[in-house]
Amino acid sequence: LSGLRSRCIGLRAHYVKTTTSTNDVAKELARQGTEEGTVVITEEQTKGRGRLGRAWQCPPRAGLCFSVVLYPRVNPMEVSQFTMLAAVAVVRAFRRLPGIDARVKWPNDVYIDGLKACGILAEMTAEADRVKFLVLGIGVNVNQTREELAPLGNAATSLRVQSGHPVSRTGVLRAILEELDSLYTLWQAEGFAPLKGLWKDVTLWYGCPVVVRGLQRVWEGIMEDIDDNGALILRLSDNSTKTFYSGEVSLRPS
Ligand code: ATP
Ligand code: BTN
Repeated sequence: LSGLRSRCIGLRAHYVKTTTSTNDVAKELARQGTEEGTVVITEEQTKGRGRLGRAWQCPPRAGLCFSVVLYPRVNPMEVSQFTMLAAVAVVRAFRRLPGIDARVKWPNDVYIDGLKACGILAEMTAEADRVKFLVLGIGVNVNQTREELAPLGNAATSLRVQSGHPVSRTGVLRAILEELDSLYTLWQAEGFAPLKGLWKDVTLWYGCPVVVRGLQRVWEGIMEDIDDNGALILRLSDNSTKTFYSGEVSLRPS
C-alpha cells in the first residue's frame, strides 16, 4: 500500500490468499503484539462472519474483506464507539466516489440507496476490564454484479451496481484506511464526542420513527440519539427512553 496517506492505519499490511476470517488472523497477530494499525487483507474467507454468528459472503475478486488491529485504552463497554468510527470512515470513503450517497445503519452497516453495501464486525479481547486489543473487520461489496448479489435476497448492493461501472478494490481499501486513520487520530485527541457529531450527520433514520427488533420482542419509537458509547437511544410513545446495545437488536424503519 505504497503512498498511503496515513499516520498509523495500514502502514503494515498482511495479505493472505485465503483464510477462515481476516478477524481470526488479525486477532492472532494482535496476540503476538503486532504494531497498531496492522491490516490483514484476504482474497477469500471460508468462514466470514457478521454479528450474532451470521455468515458474511465475500466472493473472490468482487468483495473486499479486511481487518485492522487497534490497541485503544478503553473498557469493553466503549468498544462500540469503534464500530461507529469505522462506519463513518466507510461512509466518507464511499462518498469520495461520484454519485454515491452512503449512510450508516446503526450499529454496524453501511447502506447505499436503502441497500447494504458494507458490514463491520468489531471483536476484542479484554482482561481485568481493559481491552487488550480490538479488531475491526470490514467487508465491502465492491464489484459484485446484481446476479452475484441475488442470493442475498435483494437487500444488498455493491459499489459497482450503484456507480454503474467496476470500482478499484485497492482504491476503496486505501480510501477506507485513510479515513479510519484520520478518525482514529481524532478519537485519540478528542475522544468520542466529535465522532458522534459526524455519525449523526450520516446516519439513517436519525430523529425518525423506527422499529427495534430483539429476539423476543419489538419496540417502536423515535431514534433519538446514541449514547457516549454508541448504544441506541429510542424515545418510546410514553415519552420514556430505552437504550439498546448493538449485540442484541436490529433496526428497521417504521
Ligand atoms: P441487522 O444489522 O439489521 O441486524 P443484518 O442483516 O445487517 O441485520 P448483520 O448481522 O449485521 O445483520 O449482518 C449479517 C447479515 O448480512 C447476514 O445475515 C446476511 O443476511 C447479510 N450478508 C451476508 N453477506 C452479505 C454481503 N456480502 N452483503 C450484504 N449483506 C450480506
Ligand atoms: C455484519 O454485517 O454483521 C458484519 C460483517 C463483517 C464482515 C467482515 S469481512 C472482514 C471481517 N472478517 C469477518 O469474518 N467478518 C468481517
